[in-house]
Amino acid sequence: MEQQGGSEPLKDWSPSSWHEKPIAQQPIYPDSEKLQHILEHLSRLPPLVTSWEIETLKGQLAEAAAGERFLLQGGDCSESFADCESGAIASKLKILLQMGLVLLHGSKKRVTRVGRFAGQYAKPRTDATETRDGVTLPSYRGDMVNRSAFTQEDRIPDPELLLRGYERSALTLNFIRALVDGGFADLHHPEYWQLGFVNRSPLANEYLRMVESIGESLRFMETLAGASMSQINRVDFYTSHEGLILLYEQSQTRRVPRRSGWYNLATHFPWIGNRTRAVGGAHVEYFRGIANPIGVKLGPTVTPDEALALAEILDPAREPGRLTFIHRFGAKKIEKYLPPLVDAIRSHGRTVLWCCDPMHGNTEVTKDGFKTRSFDKILEEIEKAFRIHDEAGSHLGGLHFELTGENVTECIGGACGLTEADLSKAYRSQVDPRLNYEQALEMTLLLARLMSRNKKQGGSHGQKT
Ligand code: PEP
Ligand code: CO
Repeated sequence: MEQQGGSEPLKDWSPSSWHEKPIAQQPIYPDSEKLQHILEHLSRLPPLVTSWEIETLKGQLAEAAAGERFLLQGGDCSESFADCESGAIASKLKILLQMGLVLLHGSKKRVTRVGRFAGQYAKPRTDATETRDGVTLPSYRGDMVNRSAFTQEDRIPDPELLLRGYERSALTLNFIRALVDGGFADLHHPEYWQLGFVNRSPLANEYLRMVESIGESLRFMETLAGASMSQINRVDFYTSHEGLILLYEQSQTRRVPRRSGWYNLATHFPWIGNRTRAVGGAHVEYFRGIANPIGVKLGPTVTPDEALALAEILDPAREPGRLTFIHRFGAKKIEKYLPPLVDAIRSHGRTVLWCCDPMHGNTEVTKDGFKTRSFDKILEEIEKAFRIHDEAGSHLGGLHFELTGENVTECIGGACGLTEADLSKAYRSQVDPRLNYEQALEMTLLLARLMSRNKKQGGSHGQKT
């Protein structure tokens, strides 16, 4: 039977054609023989995801681009091998599931959940090396590349870690699929929501009412259908990671029976980072040929012409759901940088899914040297993003967070009242600071409130235009 979807393979592209282009942010592996051996091994292992899941997600992202759905993407800045364990995975799933329900409640749109997980193990770095006390070593680039301890042995990129990362991605995904299939957790129980922190917020009553009303809707649905929610509407989780280490991504790029295109089967939704999106570069070359829906991070250095060129190269067929632009300008800069981009895309009659990453433009370093982000700045960027898209007649169709389901102290602010002085209590990220469980849930409750108000006031993101 002929299957639907999957773009035609491009004639002038192959999974390795990126080798001809300039490439940024790649580790240098001293042991090239071992690297080749590992890559061959990786290319024979079974895929992590399937082309039909990928095509389903693409269809959902097309709906989000049209303003009929909302994308919630979130997870660690960088997953760590040590956190590949049941508690951390389950709590990440739980916070994403809860945020999804709260956003559904606020926006009255279906929500697609995409984790930054099961493969988010490689990081771009500002500097290729790090110097401490006169000793210079390669920078830590994520658990799939090297190790974070500051020794020569730990920092040398080790190809074995690609394989270990692949295996942990599979273990993570296996557990996620099992939890989701089993109904995961009982959302009706108030203790599941861990709402103790809201009492410190002036909006406590409103939050409690919102969660109570979500519980009521779930119970109502179940009574109607005589089945549990998990059976009525199996929640899907999709995976995403920054497609940074192209040798790894190439090893996962496959043909599948009865579809025409090439798929990256290591993840549903790979994205190009802000540091590797050069129009003539290797990453754009690799991504243009795969059939997955893809994201591109856009920071303040992007010009409207570049954004347009990226759209033309990466989505020549104007395929619905194919391209997501994840803008990350920061609360201070979004008003200057976003409107011209939206204009450029619109004036060329193109549709992309606009998603706001309110994390990466709002990073600061405290006087004690902690990388942090403030709850208020994150919220401010999101509020501005909604408004700017509304005013431009476009839709903000998604949000991209760095968060964890655990009680870390990495971002400041929120009802839990985290201050700079608290950061050292439980700062666990090796890279960027994440919202903790309470901050993520509180942020979402505030956003749901904002979305439902905008809807009442007739903001365009609440309607089809
Ligand atoms: C990230 O998502 O962790 C990241 C490095 O983002 P960006 O490419 O937007 O800087
Ligand atoms: Co990050």
